[in-house]
Amino acid sequence: MGNTFSRTGWLMIAGLIILVLLIVSELILKQTQSKKLMAGILSAKSDYPWQIPDTASIPHTAEGDLIRYGKDLIANTAMHLGPKGLVANITNGMNCQNCHINAGLKPFGNCFSAVASTYPKYRPRSGRVESIEFRINECLERSLNGAKIDSLSKEMRAMVAYMNWVGEGVPKNVKPIGAGLDEIKYLDRAADTAQGRLVYFSKCQSCHGPEGKGLMYPDSAGFVYPPLWGDKSYNVSAGLFRLSRFASYIHDNMPFGASHNAQQLSIEESWDVAAFVNSQPRPDKRFSYDWPDIKTKPEDYPFGPYADGFTEVQHKYGPFGPIKKAKEDLKKNKAM
Ligand code: HEC
Ligand code: HEC
Repeated sequence: MGNTFSRTGWLMIAGLIILVLLIVSELILKQTQSKKLMAGILSAKSDYPWQIPDTASIPHTAEGDLIRYGKDLIANTAMHLGPKGLVANITNGMNCQNCHINAGLKPFGNCFSAVASTYPKYRPRSGRVESIEFRINECLERSLNGAKIDSLSKEMRAMVAYMNWVGEGVPKNVKPIGAGLDEIKYLDRAADTAQGRLVYFSKCQSCHGPEGKGLMYPDSAGFVYPPLWGDKSYNVSAGLFRLSRFASYIHDNMPFGASHNAQQLSIEESWDVAAFVNSQPRPDKRFSYDWPDIKTKPEDYPFGPYADGFTEVQHKYGPFGPIKKAKEDLKKNKAM
């Protein structure tokens, strides 16, 4: 009798312990998940699928008209905001779509599928929480080497409406597969401008021209083929001026027609031609507020000062592996 009682007692205690353990582990999991989300780790590795939305499904309402205008501003930016723009002339004549392929709908083509779900968000480059409007203005000032537009302007409202439409249904903080750009693998060596020159003249110059100037429409209102360097190209504060961004972009998108599932350049060719293009002259516009915490500068950000001992040249061309390792070691030491 005593025996049976104590067995039940033990079973109850064991059950209780298991229950408590389950609750605690669930809590810890939730905690680390939200920490990871905040650090952008979970969102970076998401395998959330995303269907390219059909632009024919944009409703025929006032809101729908705004979304369509937003799409047109992204696809035909020069027509609206370029040197001969209908609304203003505040850009170098490039289109957002030159880098955000198919108006930001192409997976790994600098795709906009994570914009609505991940903004506003903290970004170390500006050291602040950025709204979608702020982020769009950054591309206007850097990638289009132009001026920002008012957050309340019809043009800004339209582009934001379009991005919200593109990301409709993507859960908060989730970055779907194919959002933005892929992360191309690092080389063990520095990227080589001389090799890159050879790649450029065999695989790029037929469209982008022997002097990287691209090809303008006869009325010089915009580009048939956008420039890769020179005074009409993106400036040194643009994302593509970082070698990893350039290499990742072209690996999945260039020569025009390539895609993530049908790449045409090897990883080495991508890095080397990125090095060649970004060693050519371009507008030198800098922003004093960039990277307020120098410890957060990416491996491939080419302007010092740095918290590590590596040179500007290595931060521009690599090899990036050792810089990355030094950065991780620094973090580990801090944590200990
Ligand atoms: C010269 C190339 C280029 C042009 C032109 C360009 N962008 Fe970008 N854009 C980039 C790059 C590179 C990134 C960052 C990608 C990365 O780091 O993964 C980016 C990022 C963005 C983001 C953030 C995406 C995200 O998921 O965080 C938005 C929004 C954006 N661009 C909007 C625009 C708009 C609107 C225009 C036109 C007014 C434009 N861009 C023109 C290259 C360009
Ligand atoms: C068949 C023509 C063609 C070839 C070849 C080609 N491109 Fe492009 N490239 C384009 C077009 C067109 C765009 C703009 C895409 C759009 O607007 O939809 C573009 C856009 C770009 C952009 C982003 C916009 C800019 O001007 O900064 C980069 C970077 C780029 N190409 C690099 C390269 C590199 C590097 C190569 C060679 C490996 C290459 N391209 C080969 C046609 C080509």
